[in-house]
Amino acid sequence: MKPTSLKGRSLLSWKDWTAEEILFLLELSHSVKKAARNRDIHQRFTGKTLAMIFEKRSTRTRCAFETAFGEEGGHPVFLSTQDIQLGAKESIEDTARVLGRMFSAIEFRGFKQETVDILAQESGVPVYNGLTDQFHPTQVLADIMTLQETFGKAQGRTICYVGDGRNNVARSLIVISAKLGINCTIVCPKELTCDEKLLAEAHSWASDSGSKITVTDSLDGVVGADVVYTDVWVSMGEEAKKEERHALLRPYQVNAELMRKTANPECIFLHCLPAVKGEEVTIEVIEGPKSRVWDQAENRKHTIKAIMLATI
Ligand code: CP
Ligand code: NVA
Repeated sequence: MKPTSLKGRSLLSWKDWTAEEILFLLELSHSVKKAARNRDIHQRFTGKTLAMIFEKRSTRTRCAFETAFGEEGGHPVFLSTQDIQLGAKESIEDTARVLGRMFSAIEFRGFKQETVDILAQESGVPVYNGLTDQFHPTQVLADIMTLQETFGKAQGRTICYVGDGRNNVARSLIVISAKLGINCTIVCPKELTCDEKLLAEAHSWASDSGSKITVTDSLDGVVGADVVYTDVWVSMGEEAKKEERHALLRPYQVNAELMRKTANPECIFLHCLPAVKGEEVTIEVIEGPKSRVWDQAENRKHTIKAIMLATI
């Protein structure tokens, strides 16, 4: 595909992206990584500006956007809710219109998907979802890149996500897997199962791409997995549910026994991070030989740079 065809696009979730477009971004991510290894950094964002709005905390996403944009000569501006009127004293629409006049692109991390959708509708510049309650699209692009690095090709492989089936990471894995022909099994307690509407959409993409999307509350779901993936039991903004989540998710901890249950000696472990070691994953697994979490974290930067290069 022609790289120019993605100019001006926003990334809100992967729902409105084709497999071809996502694969192009992945290819670009690999070449960005290779160039970074060779210290072959250009100044492709000179004269450009990026607004980075954060309603929630972040290490990887903020640092990936800020360093990727800055090292190419761009000027990133970090805006927390302490700094900016966003739906507080000014409507999100008005903030979006003003930011669109001053910035080349906008990154948003926060609570409502609706906020990032409005920013994209009203600003007239590319908007990137750096995580909402519903989706975390930049994360899963790095996850698929890590799969490609490990197995050569991600298509036809099986990701098994174990944990909170309703959260932003699980939902994003379902979408990107269905688009790219990757099998995705969500292993979660019935009380935290996936959104039916999203699953229906995913099944239709999966029937085109040839992937299989499965949801089960049985740990047997991990059998045959190429990747076991987990995330925190309590996502940002849901701290009040801590006790309930722990009770529901304790049986779903990723430990050495669960990794053995895959019966796949090649199976790797992924986690979007930050991790609460000893809760959703044992130290033995996350620090063990099957873990690729540090490559996965590094890939956040390469994939985010690729997304911005393609769309700005
Ligand atoms: N995985 C991820 O998004 O990490 P941060 O919350 O640190 O950005
Ligand atoms: N599900 C987690 C992901 C953190 C990167 C959260 O929303 O807190």
